[in-house]
Amino acid sequence: MSKRADTEERLAAALRAIPALDRLREAAGGMPVYLVGGAVRDVLLERDPSELELDLVVEGDAGALAAALGGVEHAGGRFGTAIAEVEGTRVDLAGARRETYAEPGALPDVSPATLDEDLARRDFTVNAMAVPIAGEARLIDPHGGAADLAERRLRVLHPGSFVDDPTRALRAARYAARLGLQLEPETERLLRATELSTVSADRVAGELARIVDEPAPRRALELAAEWGLIDFDDGAGERIEQVTALLDRPPWSGVADRRAALLAALETPPARLAELAAARPRRPSDAVELARPLSAVELALARVAGAEWLDRYVEEWRDTGLEIDGDDLIAAGVPEGPAVGRGLEAALRARLDDGIADRERQLDVALAAAAAS
Ligand code: CTP
Repeated sequence: MSKRADTEERLAAALRAIPALDRLREAAGGMPVYLVGGAVRDVLLERDPSELELDLVVEGDAGALAAALGGVEHAGGRFGTAIAEVEGTRVDLAGARRETYAEPGALPDVSPATLDEDLARRDFTVNAMAVPIAGEARLIDPHGGAADLAERRLRVLHPGSFVDDPTRALRAARYAARLGLQLEPETERLLRATELSTVSADRVAGELARIVDEPAPRRALELAAEWGLIDFDDGAGERIEQVTALLDRPPWSGVADRRAALLAALETPPARLAELAAARPRRPSDAVELARPLSAVELALARVAGAEWLDRYVEEWRDTGLEIDGDDLIAAGVPEGPAVGRGLEAALRARLDDGIADRERQLDVALAAAAAS
């Protein structure tokens, strides 16, 4: 079988394995609709079709297709952009459009266009392929994306691509790392000349967040640093790796927001965290006192800086509570005010350090401490 026939055979098989496309075909009723972008690329890479997010471009009224489809979660914009849940798959719909950039880094002006023009506005050749969802599975690949993918090459469609949208430089790091692609030399030259400073901080932060949301973000961040896009100190790669691993396993999974922790790990840690790593709290209550003021992200960063004692804190000590509360002390005659706090603190120390779990004994400890001046 020729390479092309083989590709189209694979596309057809993958498309048959996506139940959402049957519904879409029905709703489109003859309107030309194409699967585009990452889904086509990932089908060519033989990724499991059930894991794909579907980006569809409509040559025509995308809003009408969304209406016919139902299940639309979000719709709006002049190009009928809509997000729908179809047969359990997320589907992004948009009318074919061209984009022009009034100035570097600005958001584009958009107007209706053909599929070819829509593909030509895109970032990389591997993302600029399409397949019609009805009729024969035919790869539409005007920029040579399939060949680049086969050669593991990341290439922009035109020399102005990074000028139009400098955040594409960060996207390049994400794709290169995730898909194991090398920058084509001219693309690399253009990328290294890219200035992220013309882009709003929000948009840069958005692309950085997409990088750290990848399952293994270290490589992409190292590439972004190597290409001069982000600052990265000597320990940053290791910190990223360690935070990724830490938040993936108990007792740390869920302790801190993964994205926030990874973004914070990009920065050189403050001296305070190194001090926590060097600390050797003698008693559980000493550990609690040191750790309690830390935010969830700081806890994770201090742990990867070497504060192993935080494992016990997270697992056990930070949730340790008392059988008594301030009302019990007041009912026993302690005046409202700082004495109540002193009493409860002493009881908590007794609970943490000496295992005093019994309510009466906790109350005794608390009352004694509250009475002491
Ligand atoms: N795109 C672009 N320039 C950008 C952002 C997006 O050209 N700055 C195009 C790309 O062709 C991309 C498509 O829009 O394939 C969809 O963008 P996005 O949803 O951000 O990409 P994803 O498909 O989510 O990325 P992934 O490939 O990780 O799935």
